[in-house]
Amino acid sequence: MKFFADTADTDEIRDLAATGLLDGVTTNPSLVARTGKDFRDVLDAICALVKGPVSAEVTATDAGGMLDQGRGLAEVAGNVVVKVPLTWDGLKACKALSGEGVGVNVTLCFAPVQALLAAKAGAMFVSPFVGRLDDIGHEGMRLIDDIRTVYDHYPDFATEILVASVRHPGHVAEAARIGADACTCPPAVIRKLADHPLTDKGLATFLDDWRKTGRDIRGALTPA
Ligand code: E4P
Repeated sequence: MKFFADTADTDEIRDLAATGLLDGVTTNPSLVARTGKDFRDVLDAICALVKGPVSAEVTATDAGGMLDQGRGLAEVAGNVVVKVPLTWDGLKACKALSGEGVGVNVTLCFAPVQALLAAKAGAMFVSPFVGRLDDIGHEGMRLIDDIRTVYDHYPDFATEILVASVRHPGHVAEAARIGADACTCPPAVIRKLADHPLTDKGLATFLDDWRKTGRDIRGALTPA
């Protein structure tokens, strides 16, 4: 499963990219606004840091405006994926941009039938928002399961399921179990994936036992 960082914070992206575990980045207007920086500067910087897909979202709501903004965004860098909302106009823009060879991420997906439309419109990614569904008492991960089932019925669909609105490592684990193609997570969630209290406890015990021997590994490996 691919890991994307759901942020426009370039310091965070640089740090995560250094692990070699980051496959891409997703942004949205709220995340870019939060940086307080110029949109173009932010996008240039992210695309320079990450080789994989970088989603940049349009703010127009009509198909013509989305197409115009989408074409402009796609010119910024070869790895820009244009993000459009899952509306009729967004689907029209998705179809047109995909036809021009531009990768499109159809976002704000909350139902399997919406995901079906995104795939038919030629989206590179569909972004179902699991956390926001959980927030209103629905079962967000059920949506991922349903979309996986639907897409698997139609091998011609090339659209990847990009799990979004991820709130905790449990969402990531479940996305992988279901077989989602990618997960976009806030940086803090990506870092938490490596945490387990038994890892910390076990490591402390190993190191303590070893320290009591008074020996060191390099010394033990050097021939006498
Ligand atoms: C997806 O690409 C969105 O940027 C994101 O996952 C939204 O998540 P939120 O519900 O935490 O705002």
